[in-house]
Amino acid sequence: MANSRCAVRGSINNDEYFYVRDIARPGETISSHHYESRVGGKGANQAIAITKAGGIADFYGTVGHDGLWVKKRATEFGLDDAGIIVGDDPTGRALIQVSDTGENSIILFPGANHSRLHEKTWSGRAEHSFPNSSHLLLQNEIHMDSTLYALKNAQNTTIIFNPSPLPSTKEIAGFPWHKVDWLIVNEGETRDLYEALFGHGNSGTTSTMSNRKLIASLSAQSAFASTNIICTLGKDGVLAFIPTFHRRNTMDGSPSFLQLPAAKLQGHVRDTTGAGDCFTGYFVQGLMEHGPHAKVGREIQEHDIVCILKICVQAAGMCVEREGTIDSIPTRAEVDVRMS
Ligand code: ADP
Ligand code: NA
Repeated sequence: MANSRCAVRGSINNDEYFYVRDIARPGETISSHHYESRVGGKGANQAIAITKAGGIADFYGTVGHDGLWVKKRATEFGLDDAGIIVGDDPTGRALIQVSDTGENSIILFPGANHSRLHEKTWSGRAEHSFPNSSHLLLQNEIHMDSTLYALKNAQNTTIIFNPSPLPSTKEIAGFPWHKVDWLIVNEGETRDLYEALFGHGNSGTTSTMSNRKLIASLSAQSAFASTNIICTLGKDGVLAFIPTFHRRNTMDGSPSFLQLPAAKLQGHVRDTTGAGDCFTGYFVQGLMEHGPHAKVGREIQEHDIVCILKICVQAAGMCVEREGTIDSIPTRAEVDVRMS
């Protein structure tokens, strides 16, 4: 049987960290006492998380001529750079100010991430208008047309979407949600997605709604009827809603959820950046371990999801214990040691 492999069509950035005493205010010029450039971008982070988790990720991204070092550095983290095109637009950037008290403020510049060179190449081919893979993982740091292209052309593929940062209300309204097998969102994104789809209603309506209520309302929409929803809850762990199980399990039709607490940390929280990307990469690899065409309710049962989520919260917990983003994503061997 062929192996599972995950196509990741996503962003890759030059993350520029400026360490400052206080975050710059309007009109102010400040100087930073420390500076670092690192590989970033949710696409690259999550693809690297899949490889650290022991899986195969085929990453498709674009950098500029100024980003050759980004491409090279990505390979040092175990990513195959065959799918990283060098184009004429400048490399995407995140300009990150980190204050001495640990606050941050971030400006994203999409740059080459918004170029559609990959789609131009793929659509020009006679066959295979999208690379073959058993799984496809998408975020929202590339052009929406690139995301829609992938969703339209991926064949016989399990699709995982982490809509981060959340698309605009208009994009959300027109999005082909029915194609998404697994939606991975954090609490804020869950609330914002609900509001984008249903409006704010009376002011403050959603602020009093529980995560479960928000997710159940989303899932009740026909576009989400077969979408599995994984909602990460930061220090509170994770909440999962799997329609296949719930339709079968609950007699009265009321939705039931799987909920797991966050991992017990060794030491304290050092840096939560990358925790969500770490979680997502580990989750995709967890699905892939069940086989290239594993389906929920068949090869993947409820206890399998619980096992996968346990590994994900452990991996993400180790990620927040350490400084850094990609650097702080643990390997599967490190996670196994902690869980044994
Ligand atoms: P994002 O980083 O995308 O906003 P979350 O904040 O929900 O996502 O974090 C993703 C996962 O990381 C959580 O499900 C949890 O397992 C882990 N995590 C995040 N913050 C903490 C924390 N303070 N303690 C333990 N685990 C955490
Ligand atoms: Na970290």
